[in-house]
Amino acid sequence: MSSALPWRSAWHEALYGTAGFYRTGRPHAHFSTATSPGLVEVLAEAVVALARNEGLTGVVDVAAGGGELATAVCALAPDLDLTCVEVRPRPAGLPGQLRWVRSPGGAALPDDLGVLRDVLVIAHEWLDNVPCAVAERTRGSRHGALREVFVTTAGIESPGPEVEPVDRVWAERWWPVGSRVEVGRARDEAWADLLSRVGRGLVVAVDYGHTTAARPETGTLTGYRGGDVVAPVPDGSCDLTAHVAVDSLRHDRIVRQRDLFAELGLTGTALEPRLAHEAPAAYLQALARRSAVTALRDPAGLGAFWWVLARRP
Ligand SMILES: C[S@@+](CC[C@H](N)C(=O)[O-])C[C@H]1O[C@@H](n2cnc3c(N)ncnc32)[C@H](O)[C@@H]1O
Repeated sequence: MSSALPWRSAWHEALYGTAGFYRTGRPHAHFSTATSPGLVEVLAEAVVALARNEGLTGVVDVAAGGGELATAVCALAPDLDLTCVEVRPRPAGLPGQLRWVRSPGGAALPDDLGVLRDVLVIAHEWLDNVPCAVAERTRGSRHGALREVFVTTAGIESPGPEVEPVDRVWAERWWPVGSRVEVGRARDEAWADLLSRVGRGLVVAVDYGHTTAARPETGTLTGYRGGDVVAPVPDGSCDLTAHVAVDSLRHDRIVRQRDLFAELGLTGTALEPRLAHEAPAAYLQALARRSAVTALRDPAGLGAFWWVLARRP
């Protein structure tokens, strides 16, 4: 039996260690996201619209997965400079003009990223995979002990010592109620590091998350493998993810995907029935786009995702 580690360390090793899930696995082999085929084209429309609105000349995709979003952006706006930042090596077959920068993973970003200027930086489903401390409150106490949760690679949890004072301060400020807390300080710091790399531009995190008004009572740590939700076991065999406390991230604005898409005019156009006879291929294409917009704006699904927007400088 392995010895127990704080969740944050066990989680990091399980995803980004030498045999970590993200060193070997391909995200879309285990779960779908808004960068999956059929949806990514509309997501790219939103990214390009935001970049154009801000007069930016490049897009940097942090946590780029297989480069799906960057490839769709490239197809829509080949004039934009495109960079992907990812743990995994560059996959074959990506557009030649796309730059690929390898990253250490988790909270750490690559040293050689340089200072990014005039770019829209998008981190789509990055922060939920940034490991953070997991802690439990003594039952019923608002300001009682907050003890770090330890875990073995078999997924067996045990209570550890009290969390570090900085994590306690974070929890008191941002997650004051509930029996289990995913301490967002590590995400706040990773996000601040990303902002510090941008000389001018707009930095955007897109993720599932919560705000102080509605923190989960018992935490959200979850595993995914092969399309299924599984127990979160830090042995490298599954994705490990926890919702993001989006309001603790430095931001100019946080907005639900559904509402932002409406502002950007991505609401799905009504289809002309006669098009089905006159131009069936165009009709099918329009139908597919409208379904994608509907899925991405679904208030009970992807439409509930948060967009955290921070302008730089
Ligand atoms: C849930 S997947 C999201 C992939 C893609 N953005 C999407 O939405 O489909 C998380 C991705 O984040 C990557 N990742 C995690 N930490 C990273 C880091 N510090 N820098 C770059 N990529 C990172 C992982 O390798 C993985 O591909």
